[in-house]
Amino acid sequence: MRIPGQKLGVGLLLNPALPQFVESHPDTFDYLELIPDREWADRGVNITPRYLFLDQSLDFLLRARERKPMLCHSIGLSIGSAAIFDTGHVDQLRWLDEQLAFAWHSDHLSFSRLPDALAAAEGGEMHTAIALPVPYDQEVLELIAERVARIRASIDCPFLLENNVYYAETPDQEMSEPEFLNRLCQDSGCGILLDLHNLHVNARNHGVSVESYLRDLDLRHVVELHLAGGDELLGFYTDSHAGPVAEPVWDLLAETLRAAPWIRAVTFEFHESSYPLLKIDGIAAELKRARRIWERYC
Ligand SMILES: [Fe+2]
Repeated sequence: MRIPGQKLGVGLLLNPALPQFVESHPDTFDYLELIPDREWADRGVNITPRYLFLDQSLDFLLRARERKPMLCHSIGLSIGSAAIFDTGHVDQLRWLDEQLAFAWHSDHLSFSRLPDALAAAEGGEMHTAIALPVPYDQEVLELIAERVARIRASIDCPFLLENNVYYAETPDQEMSEPEFLNRLCQDSGCGILLDLHNLHVNARNHGVSVESYLRDLDLRHVVELHLAGGDELLGFYTDSHAGPVAEPVWDLLAETLRAAPWIRAVTFEFHESSYPLLKIDGIAAELKRARRIWERYC
């Protein structure tokens, strides 16, 4: 892919607990990343108008965009759904990019939308409520590469896919995740949003070797990193975005930036339910720690 020219620095993923922090602490972050699907109500593919922005949402984003660069991190595309490719969602992202001029936009290498057999004739869908991993094989590679090409043709903005977290392993895959991502980037022109916490989660739950993963992944395609924390649930370590960044992820950040100093951005993400734990000082402290590491290597 064409790596975006602009290095952004350290940024923050927006959530409903953050508007006050964004207004009062603009010096702690270099850019904002928004999840567009959380800013509007999607009333369904057959309803016009389909998308309704939540109260004040677009006004807040336009004001914030006047002060800082912005990234778009979608959760609604479900690019790995074999039977669904939602061009209406792509059109809506293009419209939002025209309003906010994103430096780049991204989604997840996963699927979450399935046709509802009982309502398929009306375009009915089911949602899995969690992003599920795609099998890493040639057929899926071709399916997703073709969709990436359509997205890139439609939205005049670089497009990244994020490595997914998974809680059950897919047996007998043709490729490893780094191999699949390398080929996808080569074949489709997308870039990688490497979520270091997702990698850490998969290492803890499934014994994935972080060292081999980072050695096998072609880091030249990595544009952005995500940092987050998680917690234990029912014998799994989860990607819950609870509280501060998990301690081993800080080491991974330093290691990755040392190996790939061309990376354009490092984003801290947390769930709004952790705001009472982090509070304003805790958010500022995470951003400061990320910045110290960023400035050492980038
Ligand atoms: Fe992430």
